[in-house]
Amino acid sequence: MVVSNEDLDLIFLKARTHSAWLNKPVDDAVLKRAYDLAKMGPTSANMSPMRIVFVKSPAGKERLKPALSAGNLDKTMAAPVTAIFAMDVKFFEQLPKLFPHADAKSWFKDMPPAALETHALRNGSLQAAYFMLAARSLGLDCGPMSGFDNAKVDAEFFAGTTVKSNFLCNLGYGDATKLNPRSPRFEFDEACRFV
Ligand SMILES: Cc1cc2nc3c(=O)[nH]c(=O)nc-3n(C[C@H](O)[C@H](O)[C@H](O)COP(=O)(O)O)c2cc1C
Repeated sequence: MVVSNEDLDLIFLKARTHSAWLNKPVDDAVLKRAYDLAKMGPTSANMSPMRIVFVKSPAGKERLKPALSAGNLDKTMAAPVTAIFAMDVKFFEQLPKLFPHADAKSWFKDMPPAALETHALRNGSLQAAYFMLAARSLGLDCGPMSGFDNAKVDAEFFAGTTVKSNFLCNLGYGDATKLNPRSPRFEFDEACRFV
């Protein structure tokens, strides 16, 4: 079983990073469905550290605004939805539920904070990537961004928790007429080798 060429166009070959958005709202049901697809992607010990805040309301956007870099400001304020992809750095507390057939909590719970953050960042970034591909497969466009002040976002949205921001992603229906030409990618032989 393989997906169709049209599906590959939608998810990879013709999908672009968008900065301009059509005036078309995003249904919560589409975001929920994208999450329900993304959550099935693999993570280490099924730790599933990603947490997402979907910033939709003008009041929510105002809370995000002071953390945004100048280049990301206007497009983020204009986007129908901005996802804060975040991660629980104490993900191990959930492992009795998520990995019930082994004592996986004991593998992680005494690790130093930097090691825990590495695990959370690796697996949370994978999950965020799964989410973006899921969103594309449901017809949404994405505009991921790391140009923002993580500490400000953490203070505003995750104070008093063990959750930290990873990166942001505008979501909506992109205006393809505003895209710049696609930048080159490495060919297989430039990035890969067989041994
Ligand atoms: C994690 C991540 C962070 C990014 N940060 C920014 C950013 O802060 N501002 C921005 O304009 N684009 C940002 N981008 C967008 C990339 O430049 C873009 O995805 C890349 O050039 C590929 O573009 P394409 O999908 O249209 O081919 C980011 C992308 C990713 C995945």
